[in-house]
Amino acid sequence: MKRVLEPELMEDEAQVKAYAEADFEIPHSQFIERLQVFVNEPRFSGTALDLGCGPGDISRRFAKAYPLSKVYAVDGSAAMINYGKLLIPDELKSRIKFIHGLLPHVSLPQADYGIIFSNSLLHHLPDPMVLWDVIKKYAVPGTRIVVMDLLRPDSIDEALTMVQAYAADEPDILKRDFYQSLLAAFRMDEIAGQIAQAGLDLSIEQISDRHVFITGVAA
Ligand SMILES: C[S@@+](CC[C@H](N)C(=O)[O-])C[C@H]1O[C@@H](n2cnc3c(N)ncnc32)[C@H](O)[C@@H]1O
Repeated sequence: MKRVLEPELMEDEAQVKAYAEADFEIPHSQFIERLQVFVNEPRFSGTALDLGCGPGDISRRFAKAYPLSKVYAVDGSAAMINYGKLLIPDELKSRIKFIHGLLPHVSLPQADYGIIFSNSLLHHLPDPMVLWDVIKKYAVPGTRIVVMDLLRPDSIDEALTMVQAYAADEPDILKRDFYQSLLAAFRMDEIAGQIAQAGLDLSIEQISDRHVFITGVAA
């Protein structure tokens, strides 16, 4: 099945509200658990960069998991950033900073970061090289890179079956977004090609029927 693009930014208020209020406990806690296995350094005291942070659930989980860290969380949607600012608890306010800006053009506060992570941004990008080029730009030797995203199923029928299996009880708007995201996602071989083209040395692992998890240390 060919890739079908979905709108790049999530800017519609109803869509953003549904996304911000959705229960991502399972995939997002798994993201952090896997990240912690890869970055087994609970006292990490550097700065992390969250690319395409949405309403910031992963940024908040990261900041709790690494209590000495700081996070810059970037998204091109003002509605998402506004939600992120609302949802941030007082005790994390000094350590998570939201930045509204479109990748790759946004200018970021630091030239490099100790950890760069991103969940579910890649499939939104018309040009996937934007993600890998931004990672390269803000990584220095030793930067830990962690990316998770959806994988494109082989057929429309398979995508519809996944929506039924994993989002049957979600609001219609979330079901629609999940379906569109599956169609916009990349296959394993396409992601491997992007990473090779970027000249990055990353491990790519399929971790479920619909998720890929990518890790590496910048050289
Ligand atoms: C599916 S959401 C993922 C949000 C968050 N990472 C999470 O896991 O909950 C994808 C986000 O990427 C943002 N996005 C898409 N293209 C972008 C770009 N070029 N620059 C910055 N943000 C972008 C969208 O606005 C949206 O908030």
